[in-house]
Amino acid sequence: MKGVLLHGGSGTRLRPITHTEVKQLLPVAGKPVSQYALEDMIACGIKEINIIVGSVGAAAVKDYYGDGSRWNVSITYTHQPEPLGIAHAVGLTRNFAGGEPFVVYLGDNILHSGLARLKDSFEEGKFDALVALCRVSKPESYGIAELEDGRLVRLVEKPNHPRTNLALVGVYFLRESIFEVIEKLKPSKRGELEITEAIQALIDGGRSVGYHEIKGWWKDTGTMEEILDANRLVLDDIERQVADDIPSQHIVGRVRIMEDSSVDGKTVIKGPCHIGRGTKIKSSIIGPNTSIGNNCSVEGVEIEDSIIMDGCVIDGRGEMRLYESIIGTSCTIKKNDSLKKASKMIVGRDSDITL
Ligand code: DAU
Repeated sequence: MKGVLLHGGSGTRLRPITHTEVKQLLPVAGKPVSQYALEDMIACGIKEINIIVGSVGAAAVKDYYGDGSRWNVSITYTHQPEPLGIAHAVGLTRNFAGGEPFVVYLGDNILHSGLARLKDSFEEGKFDALVALCRVSKPESYGIAELEDGRLVRLVEKPNHPRTNLALVGVYFLRESIFEVIEKLKPSKRGELEITEAIQALIDGGRSVGYHEIKGWWKDTGTMEEILDANRLVLDDIERQVADDIPSQHIVGRVRIMEDSSVDGKTVIKGPCHIGRGTKIKSSIIGPNTSIGNNCSVEGVEIEDSIIMDGCVIDGRGEMRLYESIIGTSCTIKKNDSLKKASKMIVGRDSDITL
């Protein structure tokens, strides 16, 4: 089996962060969102992976994943010039698939339970396609599945009046037959070739389409809230890792501190938290549910439920509290005592600030 990782799209719902960051490379507990998908595919034995990149951020994606040798697999890339839909992206991978079955994984989805059970169901059932389903509270935001007598009969993309709460998870097990239906697809109301409609066309054509309801949590990290949620959920599973030379009397619970980082004795860290490599933390209260990237400098600040990306400098002089915040790569945030009731800011387009 081969793997296709979708890394295109425009990330408009995650602006302003996606003006400067690629949405699927946003870090969750110290790792890009899409790396969880890649590692899920590798964990179930997939060794050939094609990453679909769009016009935005392709260089950063290629730079990060390279040829896959870091993971001992082969990674190749396909360029999708415009985000014309998930089915359009899949249609570009026919040569890569070369007649073999393959799994398509949306790069902004994270699944707690991995792919192994899904792959087994797909192979045992000898299906043309297998979709993963998960019960959700807002079904109108997803592709929705309808079942009759335990069989999948209808898939509808983001219906206004969903008949079930069974959402399509962003993982699709497919075979060569999908390419024939994609060739005949017409753009949907939102102007995209929908994978949901392609799989419906398989059902309508009498092909066998299976499903598997996943256990455990699933996150589509399409919004800021969902990124922070994913950060909390992934941090919930980490193990404590604190080097002997770090004063640990105020480091409580599951806290992971990577190599070459330092934490002074005046800092309190409440797990779960991830602190990246080469980061310095002084006189601060960090956590819970907080990920701080590599090579950051953090002093005199309280940070809770937040993601701070690589290379940030935060200096709060003991008077700053950040919560539910996402701070992009290499930002500087400083408290200035001489600016009493005023703030000095250089803020880019679409920023979101609460003072
Ligand atoms: O997350 C699950 C949902 O994903 C499903 O329930 C829906 O049925 C499915 O259509 C999809 O809906 P979204 O609206 O969330 O898809 P989105 O446009 O966010 O794209 C999902 C991923 O695929 C994202 O990482 C970007 C990538 N993508 C998207 C498009 C439209 C591409 O690589 N190329 C594209 O043309």
